[in-house]
Amino acid sequence: MSEITIGLGNNDVKTRLDADSNFIGFWEKQAKNLSWFSSWEKTLDWNPPFAKWFVGGKINASYNALDIHQKDKSDKPAILWEGENGESKILTYKDMWVQVQKLANVLKSLGVQKGDRVTIYLPMIPELPISMLACARIGATHTVIFSGFSASAIKDRIDDSKSKVVITADGGYRRGSVISLKEIIDEAIKDSKSVKNVIVVERTKTKIKMSSKDLFWNALLDNASDICPPEKLDSTHPLFILYTSGTTGKPKGVLHGTGGYLTHLHSTFKWAFDIKDSDVYFCTADIGWVTGHSYVVYAPLLHGATQVMYEGAPDFPDASRMWNILHKYKVTIFYTTPTALRMFMRFGDDIPNSFDLSSLRLLGSVGEPINPEVWKWYFKIIGKEKCPIIDTWWQTETGGMLISALPGLETIPLKPGSGTRPIPGLQISVVDDDGKDVSANTKGYLVIKNPWPGMLLTLWGDDKKYRDVYWSKYKDCYYPGDYALKDSDGYLWLLGRADDVLKVAGHRIGTAELESCIVSHPDVAESAVCGIPDQLKGEVIIVFAVLKQNTTLDVKTLEKELITKIRNDIGAIATPKEIYFVTKLPKTRSGKIMRRLLKAISSNETIGDVSTLEDGAAVSEIQSTLEELKKSIKLRSEF
Ligand code: WT7
Repeated sequence: MSEITIGLGNNDVKTRLDADSNFIGFWEKQAKNLSWFSSWEKTLDWNPPFAKWFVGGKINASYNALDIHQKDKSDKPAILWEGENGESKILTYKDMWVQVQKLANVLKSLGVQKGDRVTIYLPMIPELPISMLACARIGATHTVIFSGFSASAIKDRIDDSKSKVVITADGGYRRGSVISLKEIIDEAIKDSKSVKNVIVVERTKTKIKMSSKDLFWNALLDNASDICPPEKLDSTHPLFILYTSGTTGKPKGVLHGTGGYLTHLHSTFKWAFDIKDSDVYFCTADIGWVTGHSYVVYAPLLHGATQVMYEGAPDFPDASRMWNILHKYKVTIFYTTPTALRMFMRFGDDIPNSFDLSSLRLLGSVGEPINPEVWKWYFKIIGKEKCPIIDTWWQTETGGMLISALPGLETIPLKPGSGTRPIPGLQISVVDDDGKDVSANTKGYLVIKNPWPGMLLTLWGDDKKYRDVYWSKYKDCYYPGDYALKDSDGYLWLLGRADDVLKVAGHRIGTAELESCIVSHPDVAESAVCGIPDQLKGEVIIVFAVLKQNTTLDVKTLEKELITKIRNDIGAIATPKEIYFVTKLPKTRSGKIMRRLLKAISSNETIGDVSTLEDGAAVSEIQSTLEELKKSIKLRSEF
């Protein structure tokens, strides 16, 4: 692969040297870029696998995001908001500061105290970051749920976090239609013991039912004082819980702290985006996911940056919407996903070519591997061959970027499709099953060998699971569950998930979660789910279901019922591309479903020699199962 050397002229060799020689001292220096109420006594308390950063230090996230800018930047736009229906709004740093303090006082008046949880279920409107920062101001832990999740998924998350208050909207716009968010919340909390109040933002003015616990946002804020001093919180105080899918049926509550997390974001935002006061930054991520938490809400605000926030679908009302926004706001830094780029690419070059995109100077990608073809299109058609592309690898659990080119720090030749190298202070290896480093250009598992400030504190209420999921495969190493390869120049190539987690349009979906939803249908006896490559979404979901013997429903009805069930239990993002009804599933002797085979069959790959299968599989039985599966798939595509 040819290299592209493109940098912004920075070449700070010292930072890397400092970080390599003493990563703890290095992060201590970075932490000093934030405003602390009092300094820490210990930079890192590392009791593997639990890391406490800046122990004893007192800090507040909303203070660092808003108060510190009031002297010089109070009139600077923090958010240039664009509604899906063409509305727009500008919120300055002062506006945000006032709103956040008002809401913080409202939350206090509703009895929310330091350490309590607040669930936020809002569309991409300014009230969403305002709600998060208001929680942060008083030390409440926010738990944002993506507005595409169903009532049953919300119920599980609210019950698990025992949230006292929910903040939602009457409705949200999506592709021109209104989604009744308040109705979904009503359903989700109907049996909740923890939720005392629901605050409702009026976004769509949809008619909704209000009960005695429901309160309107505007009415509350109109009567609230705009002075609410920030709580002086411990550096390790839990800032938020964000639920994410894993390899078990239940979503995991990833818990992040304050001081370490903010230090990580402050540094990576500066290194990766080389942020300047004059920049107009635009990250397309929904705040319901971690990219939105870290690089829409916290990192840009810590730096006093101006950013565009867009409410709706990227292709609404038509395929030119995104480029229209870049052009309208003269965006300088654009951070998006490979799935979005693949969609734009499919619409053709004429659309972006008809807009003036000359304000752009830096491009980013996140969430899934970016194929070189798409990388090159992004570089040529959007960046006009003058903007570096940073491919940033990280996870909900890591809090912020761990692998990326860092144009704000150093010039490095880019290779389309590679994330390049780890951020300073981080030791990353690619290892085999036994934990031994693999040689260059060999696929293995990515592992992280030392703690970093943005890392999760634990899984909410489940230290054991935290240890088991991330720290038990390899001794004293964090295992993110990704395949990777290091080439002979030391560049890292991220090669997708190594566990039973799918990435559909960049969203994480656990196969176990989906399977447990499917088998809870009364007619399904067994199920297996796998992902197959897709040109647009990266990966799409294929479901295999074994029906109970006494089923009387026909296949078409069952298929419909299962799709409805998946949408109701999890959400539309988990909708499968295909459902195959089969009579048995290929299993090892120990009863493990062989998803690798299912994947190969569904994507028409050759299966290879089944006699060498792991775990001493019952070969002949598997072969007959595979034959049967192949037949049923053929039947399905004919029908
Ligand atoms: C998983 C984490 C990163 C925040 C948004 C997603 C995959 C993420 C990349 C990348 C290849 C990537 C990994 C990772 N992933 N970024 N640049 N190249 N793969 O966060 O939902 O927690 O998912 O996304 O598989 O483990 P997430």
